[in-house]
Amino acid sequence: MSLVATSAHGVHEAAVKRVDEALAAASLELKEWFGADFVIWSRESGQIVLDDSPLSWAKGPLGAWLAARIGEITSPQVLAEHDCFALVALPVEDDRRRRRIAVAPVATREPVQTEDVAEDAAWLGCDEQEAFRWLRQTQPTPAPALQRLVQAVSGKIEAEARSRRLEHEVGKISDNLASTYEEISLLYDITQNLRISSTDVELGGRALNWLAECLPAESLALYLAPVAKESEITYRARTEPVLLTRGEPLVTIDQLEQMIHDLQLSSGSGPLVANRNVTAAKQWNFPAVRELIVTPLGEGERLFGWLAAINHREAKEFGTIEASLLNSVSAILGIHGCNIDLYRQQNEFLASVVRAFTSAIDAKDPYTCGHSDRVARVSVRLAQELGCDTETVHTLYMAGLVHDIGKIGIADSVLRKPGRLTEAEFEHIKLHPELGYKILCDIKQLSDVLPVVLHHHEQWDGRGYPYGLAGEDIPLLARICAVADAYDAMSSDRPYRKGMPENKMATIFREGAGSQWDADVVAAFFHALDDIRAISQRERAGLSLDVQRWASLPASTHVGE
Ligand SMILES: [Fe+2]
Repeated sequence: MSLVATSAHGVHEAAVKRVDEALAAASLELKEWFGADFVIWSRESGQIVLDDSPLSWAKGPLGAWLAARIGEITSPQVLAEHDCFALVALPVEDDRRRRRIAVAPVATREPVQTEDVAEDAAWLGCDEQEAFRWLRQTQPTPAPALQRLVQAVSGKIEAEARSRRLEHEVGKISDNLASTYEEISLLYDITQNLRISSTDVELGGRALNWLAECLPAESLALYLAPVAKESEITYRARTEPVLLTRGEPLVTIDQLEQMIHDLQLSSGSGPLVANRNVTAAKQWNFPAVRELIVTPLGEGERLFGWLAAINHREAKEFGTIEASLLNSVSAILGIHGCNIDLYRQQNEFLASVVRAFTSAIDAKDPYTCGHSDRVARVSVRLAQELGCDTETVHTLYMAGLVHDIGKIGIADSVLRKPGRLTEAEFEHIKLHPELGYKILCDIKQLSDVLPVVLHHHEQWDGRGYPYGLAGEDIPLLARICAVADAYDAMSSDRPYRKGMPENKMATIFREGAGSQWDADVVAAFFHALDDIRAISQRERAGLSLDVQRWASLPASTHVGE
């Protein structure tokens, strides 16, 4: 029997000629039971699909008569009884579990001489001699026993077919379970790494590694779209598209963009499966791409990129299992991308609030313009020298920017007074840490910086203000900020005085270590003095809150970061 395998999309994969194994096996088994060679018909077409009989009866008038009635045969039966044989019919199944009808003349009595089979041969449409030889070679089954045998064999064949069907179902369920299990464990692994601190590139790279193990694709590609324009960012954000690949790199970033454009995909598109029904078309411009699944990384209207699986490893077609897996991973990556972006926007907002505060401080006290920014950056350098972790460094940076925010509440006449302050004026200016605390205490996102705002004028020996805290009772970040603040105050030029010479300043720090300032912080200051000098001598055009980005760069390149 010849079978032509045709894909779901009507593309001929291969013309494969082969024997139907299920029918061949059924024919052999029937021969064992009935001692006869069966001819098997298709019920739908009335065509013979397998003929093992040495007799030519099936090709004669009897065959034609049967072909016309074969569609009506639904159960095992003896179709006709003659002198020496009976015609039996039994339903069987082929490889694709289609019902076929096997028919054979079965000997019921042994003839003595050729004349005994004249009628039988005529009915069979074959030669008397041929019929006689056939009947003589065959072990006869008496007619009553034949009826019972037909029922019994049919029951057995039916039971075996049912068993095969169940086996097939179990196999399918087991395959589905295996792929569902793979999908669940892959998604579990990905969600375990859904941290806001991991970038979409990091999570995307991990997702591709997992997918490479689960999906039979020659190539995987993850396209991450830009989330901001270069001119807009003050916080970490991607401004150029990124392409991550696993396996054969079958498309470039430009080709993937072009493919998505040609396929007219958008953020609302579901997963697209394009097998050779699409890629074999003349207008397909990507010869390296044979089979393809593309899914969008989106959240509502927002689009964060595309995930693609290219070319089935076994040159088969991609189907719903692969598309659904890719779609689930895309959904997670899309939501993660959205969360990262919301977090970035929140930080952008916080940055703009802090920028507004520092601008307000600079406007209030133009003599010390840039002071907050320099104190923030010097504080960061000191914190790094003291081995603080990244989060602490970031907190200190924010704290440095707003440490003097309370000066907004100090009278201009005091704040801008060029000469020496009276005792009353000094008492007034000493209110600024507590005023700053009151200004910021309702902003939850800035709660970590409050101890620095409140305590940056405390002294190690307890003689500072506002609370007269001493030693380690003063928060560490406030002790660091105090040194940075003093350095900037002493080193900066003022309209009414020049910045202090460095040797004089060094003497003051040495004498104040352990009395005014924390001796460890002063030691860190001297270790990092070259960097600190470079930092404070350079003004910055912008104000980045992404400390991780600029603090890892050499101090001399901090301008504009
Ligand atoms: Fe201050």
